[in-house]
Amino acid sequence: MNEESRLAGAEAQTEQQPEKDYSKYFEHVYQPPNLKDAKKRGKESIQYHNDFTIEEKYKGLGRGRKFFIRTYGCQMNEHDTEVMAGILEALEYTATNDVNEADVVLLNTCAIRENAENKVFGEIGHLKHLKLEKPDVLIGVCGCMSQEESVVNKIMKSYQNVDMIFGTHNIHRLPAILEEAYMSKAMVVEVWSKEGDVIENLPKVRTGKIKAWVNIMYGCDKFCTYCIVPFTRGKERSRLPQEIISEVRDLARQGYQEITLLGQNVNAYGKDIEGLDYGLGDLMADIQKIDIPRVRFMTSHPWDFDDRLIEVIARGGNIMPHIHLPVQSGNNEVLKIMGRKYTRESYLQLVEDIRRALPDVALTTDIIVGYPNETEEQFLDTIDLYERVGFEHAYTYLYSPREGTPAANMQDNVPMREKKDRLQRLNKVVEHHTEHKLASYLGQEVLVLCEGPSKKNDAILAGYTDKSKLINFAGPLDAVGKIVRVRVTETKRYSMNGELIEIIEPVEVAN
Ligand code: SAH
Ligand code: SF4
Ligand code: F3S
Repeated sequence: MNEESRLAGAEAQTEQQPEKDYSKYFEHVYQPPNLKDAKKRGKESIQYHNDFTIEEKYKGLGRGRKFFIRTYGCQMNEHDTEVMAGILEALEYTATNDVNEADVVLLNTCAIRENAENKVFGEIGHLKHLKLEKPDVLIGVCGCMSQEESVVNKIMKSYQNVDMIFGTHNIHRLPAILEEAYMSKAMVVEVWSKEGDVIENLPKVRTGKIKAWVNIMYGCDKFCTYCIVPFTRGKERSRLPQEIISEVRDLARQGYQEITLLGQNVNAYGKDIEGLDYGLGDLMADIQKIDIPRVRFMTSHPWDFDDRLIEVIARGGNIMPHIHLPVQSGNNEVLKIMGRKYTRESYLQLVEDIRRALPDVALTTDIIVGYPNETEEQFLDTIDLYERVGFEHAYTYLYSPREGTPAANMQDNVPMREKKDRLQRLNKVVEHHTEHKLASYLGQEVLVLCEGPSKKNDAILAGYTDKSKLINFAGPLDAVGKIVRVRVTETKRYSMNGELIEIIEPVEVAN
């Protein structure tokens, strides 16, 4: 591990604390994560570590103590929360769903848009009362926001109720960070900008017993001009194929029914491993051979989506016929300024290639509206592309400038009310298509992974179809955790109702 790049908060406790100017106080002990440095991707190869253990001195640190983690943002963060829960339980902390009962509260944060960050600052503010009532509670901020210099400075200056800030590359350091926070009166800040490591054997407590996340790679090197993720998550680094395959086998043996392979940009899988001629298509082909009923993957960048991958997905088997393929914009100039490295035409060509191999595929996407200087015509190109592709659904976002990204420095002549108006117009198109697509399932039989009873009624079960559509149906609790066949009897705006036809009993796993 690279100790020089470690930002140690430890020395802080030996200094005398001044009255007001906290930023000055931290200046000489704390080097903030630097966005410019993050952009210079290290050439050094990735180091794989398999030696994580809970050191003797930390064992039992959590005995008699409870923890609460609030997770914001994407699946990557949800999965990191499972790892932090694993580490905390290995330290003998127990989980609680009630923040007021907790002795350690962690906010696993997201930096993708300004409103995501504002939510977190709001929550840190709320936690001030908890700290007043229970001065011994430890409050930690981790996840993507903690990799941002401005956020770390703001917390140090204005949120003295925070005890720990640690970055996305420091999760495995949680035992040491906690111990330091117990010993120290000052805020413990540990954010590494170093990102060349993959740590394999971290403990995990998965939130569900039916579906599981499997990281296949970390980080992102695409540097889309609006996006903070390459800075907060570091450079692209793939896990070794054998590690992923053995994790999937293990999940299958434990009875998991569905896995989602995770990465910011899964199509780039394997490209960073020197001498390895093995990509996402190859990995999926190997996972296809494993006895696990459902495999999904996200997120796909259209740039790296190759023919091998299309061929493997088209073979079907346990790979679900749903591809989330963010397009962001339907206009070439905007795509160019976004740094997406594909054109409207090449995107449409890719969709055609995918559909030729897999006619029944469900495609969903992400779109950003109101990019700096986006014209009405450029916006209409996005609407036009949406209709042409006929996406089943989309996540739509108002562009949010992120400090340190190239787009944040662009002049922008589009008034906010215009941007909001475009978002509303796009959302109408999206809603129309989503409803229309769902309506087309009426009367059909669909395969559903039954995830559990609805919150209000035990006899009403819910799950997702192979194409990720939510469906509710009456059935016995025995169906939970199994693939069931359901006939669609009613379709609504975002979900469907159906009647159970049969429960498909799982076969013996031979992995
Ligand atoms: N790695 C994925 C996306 C991760 S972020 C990919 O490249 O497809 C999820 C979505 O958030 C993006 O697809 C984009 O639509 C949106 N997004 C990212 N940065 C944004 C910003 N600065 N403002 C608004 N939306 C943003
Ligand atoms: Fe962000 Fe682009 Fe990377 Fe996706 S591919 S995480 S949008 S930089
Ligand atoms: Fe947010 Fe970080 Fe994910 S910025 S979207 S939590 S990678």
